[in-house]
Amino acid sequence: MELKEFVRDIPDFPKKGVIYKDITPLLLAPKAVNQALEQFLENIGQQPIDKVVGIESRGFFFATLLAQRLDAGFIPVRKPGKLPASTHAQEYELEYGSDTLEIHKDAIQPGDKVLLHDDVLATGGTAAATCKLIEKCGGEIVLCNFLIELDFLRGQEQLKACTVHSLMHY
Ligand code: PRP
Ligand code: MG
Repeated sequence: MELKEFVRDIPDFPKKGVIYKDITPLLLAPKAVNQALEQFLENIGQQPIDKVVGIESRGFFFATLLAQRLDAGFIPVRKPGKLPASTHAQEYELEYGSDTLEIHKDAIQPGDKVLLHDDVLATGGTAAATCKLIEKCGGEIVLCNFLIELDFLRGQEQLKACTVHSLMHY
């Protein structure tokens, strides 16, 4: 099964000139979800993982599934003002302006081995900010994995210190 068959291009969304990679057809197909999960797990292999960090919101879908299969805890990294307990915050640059992500300070114990997951690696700003949050908590990033990597946006340049693995490249 070719996972790319379950990713739909939506032209000019969310704005003109952008081709949005829509993974909702993949989420509708349990066999495709399972194949993606197995491919992630095969790549992770025997590396121990204590926590899986998923990035709001599209990172949550697979991060929870991965955490369950890895017998690891799941940690949501959220947009500002959503997490109720004490947080670390990290600002990052967008094309126009900036945004912030937050993590619960007590979600990671120093030395925890952490897998970062998101659906798409584009410019890398979101993932790089999340790496900083994990490091503020004392976590050790084992791997950053993504369903989709938009190679032409060179997101890996923001993640030079990390091992990166993506199931689909465009
Ligand atoms: C999208 C995507 C990644 C991020 C990648 O999320 O789900 O999280 O952008 O972009 P970057 O590599 O250029 O930072 P978005 O902020 O649209 O929010 P969503 O997941 O809630 O839809
Ligand atoms: Mg996202």
